[in-house]
Amino acid sequence: MTHEAGWAHAPGALRGPAWLREPGDANALVPQLWSRTAHKADGDLVVGGVAVADLVAEHNTPAYVLDEADFRARARAFRDAFADYQVFYAGKAFLCTAVARWVDEEGLSLDVCSAGELTVAQRAGFPMARVGYHGNNKTHPELRRAVALGVGRIIVDSPVEIERLAAITAELGATARVMVRVTAGVEAHTHEYIATAHEDQKFGFSITNGAALEAVRAVHAAPGLELLGLHSHIGSQIFDSSGFEVAARRVLALHAQVSAELGVTMPEMDLGGGFGIAYTTQDDPSDPAQLATEMTKIVEHECRGLGIEAPRLSIEPGRAIVGPSTCTVYTVGTVKPVALDGGAVRTYVSVDGGMSDNIRTALYDADYSCTLASRASDAPPVLARVVGKHCEAGDIVVRDEFLPGDVRPGDLLAVPGTGAYCRSMASNYNHALRPPVIAVRDGVARVVVRRETEDDLFATDVGGF
Ligand code: LLP
Repeated sequence: MTHEAGWAHAPGALRGPAWLREPGDANALVPQLWSRTAHKADGDLVVGGVAVADLVAEHNTPAYVLDEADFRARARAFRDAFADYQVFYAGKAFLCTAVARWVDEEGLSLDVCSAGELTVAQRAGFPMARVGYHGNNKTHPELRRAVALGVGRIIVDSPVEIERLAAITAELGATARVMVRVTAGVEAHTHEYIATAHEDQKFGFSITNGAALEAVRAVHAAPGLELLGLHSHIGSQIFDSSGFEVAARRVLALHAQVSAELGVTMPEMDLGGGFGIAYTTQDDPSDPAQLATEMTKIVEHECRGLGIEAPRLSIEPGRAIVGPSTCTVYTVGTVKPVALDGGAVRTYVSVDGGMSDNIRTALYDADYSCTLASRASDAPPVLARVVGKHCEAGDIVVRDEFLPGDVRPGDLLAVPGTGAYCRSMASNYNHALRPPVIAVRDGVARVVVRRETEDDLFATDVGGF
């Protein structure tokens, strides 16, 4: 099965999805998928002034390589573009104490959604007044701790939470600043598991069935609760502002209704996160300046129509700040051509990680890309599938990518765009040890989260036999 342009052009050859183009040069990086300092030097991937091969020689693979300058630049870009807003970095995308410090230094606020994330903020010395606390099932002790710490805003998600907070503030003689999470009935154009504002799901109070207005009344009536405003988050990895537009219209209408019926002007409103990033060449995200212009225009237009003053707005980007800052570096272990019906061959490239360090491909059908990171190659590209080493057929890291046809054991592969929801959703499946996060900047690599060891795993396996 030979063809003058290479086997990939032969009849019956695998072509991959329609959006995937065979690259002219399989060694070249597609710049919009990589952090700002990433480039190749003679085939070696260099990030933050550090050659990835050198970093691997010291720290091994798999490893998440976090470009600190890129993270800070994206955080600053949101802060500057949304200068009149309060910008909360959504820590669920990725959080460790170093990152919490960077967020603070860049002047952003921090969204946490669990007791553990709140502890990271505390350990990093993050100012509690700039923390927003989310979650649909915050317990009495968790809420009590947040109130005692002086967390800047608590986003309530159910009637029982409002009761708990009312009791806690009475007991402590404290005030809690509260936002009410509402569902705007918008189904964002994204994968179902990450669309959070349509009605039939666990988050928020529905605007349409009246639950949201009831919740606002309850917060307003509780003496220890300061009603800050409404909160809406419509989903994740969204490219189209029309979802935000519909949500903003509905949430602002409720905001106006509250003023009219309760005589309270809520000072704030949060429109959540969800701004998409480029994982592959099929994605074309807006930059923060464009987003700010669009969102502000939408809100101003709606407020004019309603005859109200715009509340102070906040947003909660997670992925758009940390996602592109990080790549995951793996070592190739095996390369296996698998002959398929029709004569085509799929090249399976197995790396030393997988669904334990990036569950997003298996969970959301997410697409990623990758590049050979440790050498240049002139070999014609082949369509490869990069898979992990877990005991599961769905353990796919990159479903389709063109890699140099001589890709072989010992090569380093790097997958860009893994900063968001990869380390934070990593698991110990098959007793995998979760990889380290290594920050690179100005030619220096620093471990900010170390690699797990078997001792870490066995710290919880207490025997008991
Ligand atoms: N604010 C709220 C209330 C949220 O629930 C989320 C994400 C964000 C902000 C940040 O969204 P971002 O800007 O990062 O898209 N694990 C999924 C995403 C789940 C997102 C959950 N909430 C994934 O890997 O795509």
